[in-house]
Amino acid sequence: MLTPYSTGDKNSFAWQTARVRWPVILTQAIDDVYRTVSATKDEAKQEEGKKIVEKLANLKYEVQHDRPLAPIEDDGFPDFAVYNEELKKMGSAGWLNGSWLFLECYLYRRISTFFSQSKQWKDYDIFNRQKINTFRSSRPAVLELAARYKELVKDLRADKEATHDEEAERLLFSEMCEVCLWGNATDLSLLTTLTYEDIQKLQGSEARKSAEKNILINDLPAAFDALKKAKAEGKAERRVDIILDNAGFELYVDLVLAGYLLTAGLATHVVLHPKSIPWFVSDVLPSDFAETLSLLANPKPFYETPSDDEQLQGITPAPLAAVDEANLAFLFQEWSKFHAEGQLIIRPNRYWTRPTPFWNLPEEAKDLYEDLKASELIVFKGDLNYRKLTGDCDWDPTTPFPEAIKGMGPGSGLNILSLRTCKADVVVGLPPGKDEELKATEGGGGDSGARQWGWNGKWAVMSFSGGK
Ligand code: F6P
Ligand code: MG
Repeated sequence: MLTPYSTGDKNSFAWQTARVRWPVILTQAIDDVYRTVSATKDEAKQEEGKKIVEKLANLKYEVQHDRPLAPIEDDGFPDFAVYNEELKKMGSAGWLNGSWLFLECYLYRRISTFFSQSKQWKDYDIFNRQKINTFRSSRPAVLELAARYKELVKDLRADKEATHDEEAERLLFSEMCEVCLWGNATDLSLLTTLTYEDIQKLQGSEARKSAEKNILINDLPAAFDALKKAKAEGKAERRVDIILDNAGFELYVDLVLAGYLLTAGLATHVVLHPKSIPWFVSDVLPSDFAETLSLLANPKPFYETPSDDEQLQGITPAPLAAVDEANLAFLFQEWSKFHAEGQLIIRPNRYWTRPTPFWNLPEEAKDLYEDLKASELIVFKGDLNYRKLTGDCDWDPTTPFPEAIKGMGPGSGLNILSLRTCKADVVVGLPPGKDEELKATEGGGGDSGARQWGWNGKWAVMSFSGGK
C-alpha cells in the first residue's frame, strides 16, 4: 500500500526533521522576532512582538512534547478550513507520529496565524534576515553568473552562429536548467546542518561541472522539445511557468533561467509563482522578488557594508569591482524591463501553501488549473514541490514519474518539469538497481532501510511529464 512518509518512522528523514530541525527552526524564529522587538521604539509593536515570541515558544514546546494538534484559527484566509479538514482525517496522529508533509506545512501555517492575527506584524517575514544573509554570502557565485549571463545575452542578441544551431541551443538550455537546478541545493531549512562555506562550495561553475554525474535523471531533452514544438507551431504567446522554491541565490538563478528563455525566444512570457506566507524558511514571497531586484540595482552597500557577524569579527568585505557592478546593473536593467513590459510576471496563489499533494490540483483549484493549462512548460523547483507532486509517498523508486504525479500527469494538459535536489526520502523514476547502488555507497543508508543518500542535496533529478 502507498503510504506517506511519517515523522514516526525511524528510518525516514521525517523522524530527524521533526525532532531536530523543527526545534532549531523555531528557535531561530524566536531569536529573529526578539531582535526586531529590541530594535523598535514603537511600544505597541514591542508588546505585540513579545506575545508572538511567547506563541512561538509554546509551539516549540508543543512539537517537542508531542502535544495534540490544535486546529488552525480562522485568521481570515479560507485555507484554514482545508487544514482543519485534514486534521480531522489525522485521527490520533501527533507531531511525532503523522504525515510528514501535512505536519510540516501545518507548522508553517500555525506560525503564520501569529502574524496574520496581529496588528503591527501582519506582513512580517521572520525568515527575511536569514534569506538576505545567505544571498549575501553567495557573492562569488552571483558575480560569476552575472558575467556569464551578460555574455550569453550579448551572443544571443548578436545572433551568433553558436546560439542558434539546434545542438548549441540544446546545450545552452541544459546549462541554464542545471544552473537553476543546483541553486536548489542551498535552501535555508537545511542550513541547520550546513555552514556558509559548505554552501559556497555547492555554487559556481566548477561545482556544477563536478556535480553533473550526480544528476540521476535528465529529462531536459523532452522539456526542450516541448518548447521547440510550441515555437514551430507558430504560437504567438508561449508561456513558461516557474513554481518557485527558495529566495536568495535560488531565486537569482530562476531569474537567470527566465531571462534566458525570454531572450532566446524559447518563451514569450514567464510567470513566477511565489508563496503567500513565510514558508519552509527560505521560500520566495512576492516581497523577496522586489527586494532581489532592488539589491541588484544598488549592490555596493549590500555587499560592502559589514554584516553583524563581520563587525564582531572585525572583517571588512572587499569592495565590489567596477566590472561586477556593471554586470549586476545589466541584469537589473534586463529583468526589470521584462517585468515592466509584462513578460516576467509574478503571480501568488494561496494554493501553493496548502498541506496536500498536487495530485488533485485540477479539481481543488480550478482557476489555477485553467491558468496553468495555458503554459507550454511548468517548472516545479525544489524538494518540497517534488514531495507534493509525488504525494511524499513511499513509491517503489522505479515508478515512472508521470505515474507518480497522478492527476498532474498524462492527460492533464500540463507539461511538467521538476528540477529537484534530493532532500527527502521520496524518489521515483530511477533505473532498476540504482537505489540499492546508492544505498551501498558511504553514508547512503546501507541495509538500515533508510534512504540516506537522498537527504543532503548531493543528488538530483530533472524529471519530465508530457501531459499535453
Ligand atoms: O524539511 C523538509 C523539507 O521539505 C526537506 O525535504 C527539504 O530539505 C526542505 O524542507 C525544503 O527543501 P526545498 O526548499 O528544496 O523545497
Ligand atoms: Mg524551500
